Parts: sequence; structure tokens; C-alpha cells
Amino acid sequence: MRYGVIGTGWIAKSFIDGARMLCNSDFAAVYSRTEESGGRFAKDNSIPTVYTDINEFAKGNFDAVYIASPNRLHYEQSKLMLKNGKHVICEKPITVEPEELEELQTLAKKNGLIYIEAIMYMFNPARELLKEAIGKIGRITSVHFDFSQLSSKYPAYLEGKLPNIFNPALATGCLMDLGIYCVYPALDLFGMPEKITACASFMESGADGSGNSALLYPDKLVNLIYSKLGQDRLGSQIFGDKGTITVESISKLINMNIIDNNGNKTEIIGDVPKEKLMGYEAKAFESFISNPDDEYYAVTSERALQVSRVMKEIRKISGIKFD
Ligand SMILES: NC(=O)c1ccc[n+]([C@@H]2O[C@H](COP(=O)([O-])OP(=O)(O)OC[C@H]3O[C@@H](n4cnc5c(N)ncnc54)[C@H](OP(=O)(O)O)[C@@H]3O)[C@@H](O)[C@H]2O)c1
Repeated sequence: MRYGVIGTGWIAKSFIDGARMLCNSDFAAVYSRTEESGGRFAKDNSIPTVYTDINEFAKGNFDAVYIASPNRLHYEQSKLMLKNGKHVICEKPITVEPEELEELQTLAKKNGLIYIEAIMYMFNPARELLKEAIGKIGRITSVHFDFSQLSSKYPAYLEGKLPNIFNPALATGCLMDLGIYCVYPALDLFGMPEKITACASFMESGADGSGNSALLYPDKLVNLIYSKLGQDRLGSQIFGDKGTITVESISKLINMNIIDNNGNKTEIIGDVPKEKLMGYEAKAFESFISNPDDEYYAVTSERALQVSRVMKEIRKISGIKFD
């Protein structure tokens, strides 16, 4: 597969490394707003062509585009690529609004293209291991998913700068950045909730720095906690009446264990490098391009839409705005 890349941050590098590691993918071009940043990224990643005009890039000689720009740009950029006949794998959150996602899913289908969200959870083989483990811990009544990670951009914010991640104009903030990693497994493992409550704590920039949501099901309560202003050290847990599943990282599904009621620990999976997890996304994307009727493509598309709808509801309840 020949790719073009939009975005020159560290995550784009991880995707390239992962795709090269697991799929032997070819990266033909990068789009950047500047020659300087694009040139540096191209050199570091052995990419032959740099574009600084997005419309020219959209006509480039590659089949697929990986998008890793600030969230606010995902919809317009994905639309432009799909209109130019490119398959798209776009970083999370795939769009800001679920209506935008529906529109682009329809456009992709009409143009015979694959369009997916680059979310590690859905393409990680450990997702199946987690589902199997859930079957072993009895009746589940309570779940606690936590993704709290102190932002490397927080010191700059405290110095009076406005990093993209804390700028609501770019549709960023904690829920969009980290909360989504808790929403995905909640909906994938337990389905759509009957009721949602949520609240957020806001920074002076207007961005949500931390937040939580409670998803109520007839038989269980799923609590989601996320923060960019503090570091979680305990991980996530799924409580069953026969045991507990512990998950060190809910985004990566690494270092997961079952601990039975006598305290005996059984490993589900250990550590996996991030590049490999990104490689799984590329592998699935390329496999969907070869086989668009793959049932799992429909599952991932539907799940992305459900997550986007629930994220919108959480934003509404907790007062998160991007104006
Ligand atoms: N899957 C994961 O684990 C993971 C991790 C981190 C981020 N992400 C996602 O990846 C995406 C990018 O995140 P990031 O932290 O890399 O973002 P970022 O650093 O703010 O921006 C990414 C790139 O977009 C360009 N850019 C920056 N500000 C821009 C602006 N105001 N207008 C237009 N272009 C701009 C820059 O490239 P140029 O200057 O070269 O144009 C920059 O390198 C987000 O959607 C995020 O949610 C995913």
C-alpha cells in the first residue's frame, strides 16, 4: 500500500514505523503547512515528496492517506481525500460530530473507498483476549476505566502558552484526547448504555482538563475517568463476582491480568510496543481495502459512529464546547 501522510507529529512517526513493521507499507508523500517541518519529517522518515498545498497533495500518487492533524481538521481533510479517490485512516476522534462521520461514511461507500478511525483498541488482538477473560469472572456489576495521563504540554500551558491540546478551537481537550479510549471499550464490551451522566473540570483556556462519565446499564455501572492534568498509577478494572480483571493501559490493552477472589493472578497479556499496536491498525486497514466486504469493517464503522454519538452526548451533559 502506498500512503500519503497528513501531520508531522510523533504519532505520525509511530504509525509509519508500525505500518512498515507489520505490512511493509510504502510512504510516498507528506503534507505539512511548511517546507521546513515537512522536509524535516520527510527526511527523518525516508519519505520522498513533501507537499505544502493540500489540494495538490490530494492528487498525489498514492492510494491511501493517514491523517494525524488536530481534531478540528479531520472532517475537511478526510472529505477532500475521499473526494480525490483516496482510502482514509484518520486519527481519533475521526470527526468531531457524528453527523460528519455519517456523511463521510456515506461518501466513502459511494466512492468505493475504505474510511476508518485509527483507534488501537478496535484492531488490537488483545481485544479478543479481554472478551474471553470477561467470560471467566462471573457476573459483572461494576467497571472502572481510567485514562489519566499528565500532558507533556501542561508545563507550556502553565507558562502562559496555548498548546493545541488545550485549545478548544481545535476541538481538543481531555474527553476528545483520552476519554475516547474509555468510551470505546465501554460500548464495545457492554453495548449502548440506558443512561449517561457526566461532568468535566475546565481550564482557563476553556478546554476540559479532566472529566468523568457514568454509563448506566440494566445490570451494571461503567465509570469512565480521564484527565490530562494528573497521572493514573492504578489502571482500569472490571469487577466480576468471581474475580477482577486489571488493565494497566486501557488504550493499549497491555499488562492485563485476572485476579480471582483468592488473590491468584493469571496473566492475559503483557507489554506490547506502541508501534506494533499502530501496525495492527495499518494491517486491518490494508486488509479492508483488499476485502471491503469484510464483516469486521462494518463492525468498526458502526462502533465509530456509536462512540461519536456517545461522545457528543457526554460533551452536551458536561458542557464541553469548541467555539
Ligand atoms: N493514537 C494515538 O495514540 C494518538 C496519540 C497522539 C495523538 N493522536 C491523535 O493524532 C492527531 C494529531 O495529534 P498531535 O498531538 O500530533 O497534534 P498536533 O501536534 O497539534 O498537530 C499535528 C500536526 O498538524 C499540524 N498542525 C498543528 N497545528 C495546526 C493548526 N493549527 N492548523 C493546521 N495544522 C496544524 C502540524 O504539522 P505541520 O506544522 O507540519 O503542518 C503538526 O505536526 C490528533 O487527532 C490526536 O487525537 C493519537
